Amino acid sequence: MQDIEAIKQHEAALQRSVTVWIVTGLLFMLLPGTFLGAWNLISISDEHGAAHVDPAWIQAHGHAQIFGWIGAFILGIGFYSLSKMRGMAPFAISRAWTSWVLWTAGVGLRWATNLWRWHWRLTLPVSAILELAAFILFFLTVRGHRSEKGPGGAGVQISRTWIGIVVAGTLGFLLSLLANLAAALHSAFYGAGPAVAPGLDARLLALFTWAFPVVTIWGFSARWLPTFLGLSNPDDRLLKTAVVINTAAVLCALGAWWLPATALFAAGAITASAGLHIFARPERPPKIVGVHATFPLFVRIAYVWLVASACISLSAALWDRAGGLWGASRHALTVGFISTMVFAIGQRVLPAFCGMRVLFSPRLMFAALAFLNIGCFLRVGSEIGAYEGYLPALWSVLPFSAIIEMTAMTLFAVNLFLTFGQVPPHLRSQQKAAEVG
Ligand code: HEM
Repeated sequence: MQDIEAIKQHEAALQRSVTVWIVTGLLFMLLPGTFLGAWNLISISDEHGAAHVDPAWIQAHGHAQIFGWIGAFILGIGFYSLSKMRGMAPFAISRAWTSWVLWTAGVGLRWATNLWRWHWRLTLPVSAILELAAFILFFLTVRGHRSEKGPGGAGVQISRTWIGIVVAGTLGFLLSLLANLAAALHSAFYGAGPAVAPGLDARLLALFTWAFPVVTIWGFSARWLPTFLGLSNPDDRLLKTAVVINTAAVLCALGAWWLPATALFAAGAITASAGLHIFARPERPPKIVGVHATFPLFVRIAYVWLVASACISLSAALWDRAGGLWGASRHALTVGFISTMVFAIGQRVLPAFCGMRVLFSPRLMFAALAFLNIGCFLRVGSEIGAYEGYLPALWSVLPFSAIIEMTAMTLFAVNLFLTFGQVPPHLRSQQKAAEVG
């Protein structure tokens, strides 16, 4: 009896900590991430070019989104789910909180340093060390994780390949933080300001996006999509091949060997989509209870963005003159693929992780996903036409795309905040029973 009570308390404490990680990620996404991104884009549109916008501000936005938002989500979900599977190690909770303090301080300090430059030669590397320390604590907590080979839902047997892919994404995360520290030290010793030099930044961004969130999302797609979308089980061989191709692509990108890198990104993206059977006919009906019925459609659209992003990056390697093709490919990846996947899968799983709740509003979920994809479509198309000078009239569309994407981000965050503010159904029925009693 006591054991059951202890397990319940441990589970509740894990749920509290994952909720705080998720709320922190949402705050980084909204304020330092999205609002600064929209501000940058409006300034770029006013000036018809990025030359007058401080690169430190652009990088502050990118860092807040990739590490502040996506990183916090991955760490929070990782602490929650892997600690649970490891048999409720008692130290997991205190480590999750310590890691959260280090991570929030590191990402917050990086953002403030890029904006205000206060003692930046010191604070820049300190922020990178704090982020790395938070990650190492996570790694020590969940390393050696062994998952049961169990059912992934009614009648679905999931192989363990997804774990290998999530581990590959976690290594990408670690390498990203190490590279971030090396770049911060380089800027601190030799730079004229906190911004990383443009050539190095472009190479680092390939690591920060393709090696870490993209691979991690492939892993979680292999785990959850057969159940959620009713897809047939992933083709393990194709998925492993996709990860190998993608790793080769990242290595080429780190060497600034852009043509082979982008061709390989496209090959990896197509192979991963084929391996996950994303566009194949489902074997079973999707599980859409509690979410909007368009959930499976948006997951498929996300994978269309993934392949589109890789193809645009290939055209950028061939023809980019003013950063428009590179910017559009990056945006198709970060907003089109990564954000659509997080909006779709996040609203499917996070209410349950954060206290066995149900999503506040499936309609808000649909609105957020629809605005996100409309905004992304306008942004990607206009960025190519405007920046590259093919169709200068498109400069006037860019601020609208920023406002539409900002609305999408806000709706997503509001839906989750309102979800976390609700009393979970099981507690509500307990309260009712107590009142009746
Ligand atoms: C309201 C939505 C967003 C707006 C308005 C926006 C705007 C911008 C702008 C103006 C740039 C400068 C480069 C360029 O002109 O393309 C940029 C770069 C970037 N954005 Fe966004 N963005 C948004 C959402 C996101 C999201 C959701 C992510 C990631 C999940 C992201 C990640 C990045 C990254 C990594 C960079 C490159 C930073 C660097 O150069 O180091 N952005 N964004």
